[in-house]
Amino acid sequence: MDAIKEKLWPASAAAPLPFASSSPVEWVDFSQQSLAIAVVSIFFNPIFWNIAARSEYHNKVITKLALGNAYHGCYLLAITIFSLGILRDALYERAIRDQPSLDILTTPLAQTVAVALFATGNLLVVTSMWALGLTGTYLGDYFGILMDHKVESFPFNVTSAPMYYGSTMTFLGTAIWFGKPAGVLLTVQVLVVYLAALRFEDPFTSEIYAKRERQRAAEAKKKGK
Ligand SMILES: *[C@@H]1O[C@H](CO)[C@@H](O)[C@H](O)[C@H]1NC(C)=O
Repeated sequence: MDAIKEKLWPASAAAPLPFASSSPVEWVDFSQQSLAIAVVSIFFNPIFWNIAARSEYHNKVITKLALGNAYHGCYLLAITIFSLGILRDALYERAIRDQPSLDILTTPLAQTVAVALFATGNLLVVTSMWALGLTGTYLGDYFGILMDHKVESFPFNVTSAPMYYGSTMTFLGTAIWFGKPAGVLLTVQVLVVYLAALRFEDPFTSEIYAKRERQRAAEAKKKGK
């Protein structure tokens, strides 16, 4: 295990800072440019997909780009969001590599916690993608591609936002795996950004579905006459 880890993630040259005799201001090196780049990337992604999704909803911007096919538009957005996610994860990992590590985060217990967080987080992300499907995961609602029913199966019976909480857990797991307080700090940023995104997204998607229910009710009434 240690040999594999050393091969994949060679230990940084600097020894971990001792928790007991270092000051918290030493735990994060704010002078690293890679840290600033990661911060920008973490902010950028949800802002980008919300602007893209709302432009689609109001003006069909992405469907037009996809020559009028809403499904192709949604796939285009899916590929873009997925790629931006990979880029952000890479920038995050790069950033925390440049940061000091802390001894209490490199203990075997911490490493076990890191693996558990990473595994659980990925389980939540992958199973929610599985439950929602491609268009359900990647904002299909904004393209008029609505789900038939609200998904209530696992992992949605555990948390209402498994994708966001799962993703946050994988960031935290990665931070602890590498023993980096800066990673924990970036994870807090990820969580705050996701919570803000939820407050912005949830009422809007609820209204999209409420609108469909009103239309269905109106049609049923018409048929009844
Ligand atoms: C959620 O669903 C899964 C699978 O159907 C089940 O095993 C689990 O106990 C459920 N959890 C809760 C909190 O209801």
